[in-house]
Amino acid sequence: MAASSSSSSSYKPVLTVESINPHVPNVEYAVRGELSNRANDYANILAEGKGKERGLAFPSVVSANIGNPQQQPFLAQKPLTFWRQVAALTEYPALLDAKLPDDVFPRDVKDRARHILDDVGSVGAYSHSKGAASIRKHVAEFIQERDGHPSDPEMIYLTAGASAGVQLLLSILIAGPQVGVMIPIPQYPLYSAALAFYGAQPVRYFLDAHHDWAIDVDAMARQVDESRQKGIDVRACCVINPGNPTGSCLSRKNIEDILKMAHDKRLVVMADEVYQANIYQPDTLPFISFKKVLRDFEKDEATKNIASEVELVSFHSISKGVSGECGRRGGYFELTNISSDVEAQVYKMASVNLCPSLQGQIGVDLLVRPPRQGEPSYELWKHETQSIHETLEARSKKMAGKFNELEGIQCNEAQGALYLFPEITLPQKAIEAAQKEKRQPDLFYCLKMLDATGICVVPGSGFGKMPDLEQRKVFLRTTVLAKETDEFVERFGTFHKKFLEEYA
Ligand SMILES: Cc1ncc(COP(=O)(O)O)c(C=O)c1O
Repeated sequence: MAASSSSSSSYKPVLTVESINPHVPNVEYAVRGELSNRANDYANILAEGKGKERGLAFPSVVSANIGNPQQQPFLAQKPLTFWRQVAALTEYPALLDAKLPDDVFPRDVKDRARHILDDVGSVGAYSHSKGAASIRKHVAEFIQERDGHPSDPEMIYLTAGASAGVQLLLSILIAGPQVGVMIPIPQYPLYSAALAFYGAQPVRYFLDAHHDWAIDVDAMARQVDESRQKGIDVRACCVINPGNPTGSCLSRKNIEDILKMAHDKRLVVMADEVYQANIYQPDTLPFISFKKVLRDFEKDEATKNIASEVELVSFHSISKGVSGECGRRGGYFELTNISSDVEAQVYKMASVNLCPSLQGQIGVDLLVRPPRQGEPSYELWKHETQSIHETLEARSKKMAGKFNELEGIQCNEAQGALYLFPEITLPQKAIEAAQKEKRQPDLFYCLKMLDATGICVVPGSGFGKMPDLEQRKVFLRTTVLAKETDEFVERFGTFHKKFLEEYA
């Protein structure tokens, strides 16, 4: 019998905020929250040419809230030529036989595209669920060259960005609501969002704002004990190195201590290393991977067992570095010391998603196997990557310097990554005005800045770094990607001075 259709007025939607997965309303992701929604509205108004009519005092919106280097028009990092050439040929292989000048598709570009197509066939076909075998082999070679230790392509999983990998691993690791995962504060909110979604307990460890965001490993160990005493099954520890939002880089000693602590306390280490190529003080603070430090423990009899026992998952991405190919969604993770039974489960769960996007996988191939010296594309690739790196470094230094010239702002120079995380002392009246609006003072400040300048940043509370009301100190995170750095600091500085006057 056909179901009868009742009058529409009595119909109650199945999906309401109360009826959906109760974890979903608990998920917060400030990088794309209230501020960025308002920024999008402003961008739409400006695009319609109605800025003046609607009272906007700025000509453009500057999206300094998200590390998305190729975003148009204000960031607009130019894609690496080699990447786009190979991507174009793999997308449309008929171009391989087209009669085109050599500089359109140099020989090594064609060789690379053919090599990739030999393995994947067509970018329109599913690949192996772990990702194309030849690309995973290249990732393993890259890791081996970087770390001086072997890497097994079977322990490499290509992913749709690091985000997908982190979520996959957390979804497997979190066995129930009693499970705890250590996350840094401040942290990139992927972690707190995923823990909220999977219903696990965030176990926070605090980075020291006044000592280059150093990690106090003894305090972490105490935190594990205290949480376990409360019945939380602390299983894993997430570390972001270089740090987001802090821009700090861990020393080898820090990493050794974290790994020893993880061994002592039986914690899986999840090492988010997506900013490994964004290093600004290579002589004093080079990037050293957790995998390398872990395997280096083999050399000493006293630490040998740590090398073969600590379970480690390391993540990397094509979104950052100098490629900035965020929209392509590519990345990988490597499993170290994970039992073969669990690895089989990881493989099964990766299979449920069939495979990561093929162009994302190809991006990973280009990330780990750039043109080599002597190949036709090398000089241009070197020039482009060096100049992006130098630009980021110069912008980051310049912005930190300019911030420090402003009254009430203290900003560390970034050691790595793509961000600055200045600390701002707000006038008491601004704190009170924020409280009247029932907003965190850092969000209040950032909203005022967006309204006045079109600059969109993220308040520190979005990373778990809550305002210190007694000291009147708040944080905000800005990317260092804005093309027009002078205009950016000018708009920022003018706003800040007016803000201090208004709430003096
Ligand atoms: C620390 C960190 N991890 C992971 C990601 C996500 O990267 P992907 O684009 O590869 O998913 C980001 C993005 O900003 C990040 O900052």
